[in-house]
Amino acid sequence: MTSTQHIAVLGTGALGTLIAWYCRSHELFTINRNQQERFSLLEYGASEPTLFSSTSWQGSPVDWLIVTTKAASTLAALKGVESQLSAVKNLLLLQNGMGQQAEVAQWLETQRSAPQLWVGSSTEGAYHAEEGHVVHAGKGHTVIGPWQHESVEQADKLPPSMTLSPDIHKVLKEKLAINAIINPLTAYYQCYNGELLSNADYRHHFDTLSTEVDELFKQLKWNTDFSIPQRAEQVALATAQNRSSTYQDVLHRRPTELPYICGYLLKQAAEHDLSAPLTTELYTSLSATEATWSA
Ligand code: PAF
Repeated sequence: MTSTQHIAVLGTGALGTLIAWYCRSHELFTINRNQQERFSLLEYGASEPTLFSSTSWQGSPVDWLIVTTKAASTLAALKGVESQLSAVKNLLLLQNGMGQQAEVAQWLETQRSAPQLWVGSSTEGAYHAEEGHVVHAGKGHTVIGPWQHESVEQADKLPPSMTLSPDIHKVLKEKLAINAIINPLTAYYQCYNGELLSNADYRHHFDTLSTEVDELFKQLKWNTDFSIPQRAEQVALATAQNRSSTYQDVLHRRPTELPYICGYLLKQAAEHDLSAPLTTELYTSLSATEATWSA
């Protein structure tokens, strides 16, 4: 019998709604712009969506505050609940990209009573259907770990559906490698993940970018448990029918996470005097497109 946890989810996009759904049998709170408290999710393999509800968080004590906003909105979202942070025991950032975790860690140092910072990575697939509900499109795993490397003895108290990683920093970088290949290319070509393999022109670019990211990781001495080109191909195949999160952002003209994917990688490369020409080209071109949306 697991004890009830108090969990608040900040940001109820597709992944946030899925995480909230996993937490629905606990004391569930949500924080979102519209104060939405009723959600609908089509469970993986189900034919009818399930309805569930939450309570808008007003600052009552919580075991976990899980942030599922886009990377770029993290600090602004947290500043919105700054006066309630002393009620949070553990703060978990669960997003694509890198860079925002260090920004938050730095910001927390300026807070009088800061929660323990956790970071995580998820391979769950979810998207908003036109009918209004969220579809759990692909079953994945969510692994988390403390930002600081000290050992944590509360594996039984992790939020539902999550497991503890012995090296979360490595997991974040491994996810970054895959996102740095699939996301800019699908956004650039405006194509499904699988088309990166099936279209000969896209495939050529895919192979070149995979090699570039792989070499960059080796030069940065960032070890991965797998071959980056092979894993990128496996992920593109396994998610062939999906639109990547960045392509979805482009379709909806929303700010993309590329500054926290390609931008982060290029910053690391520059600090080590390394170059990544295709990443630079794609990032420059997509940033220019993004700039025209707000112009
Ligand atoms: O960002 C995404 O869409 C996903 O992380 C991935 C792995 C690229 C699959 O679509």
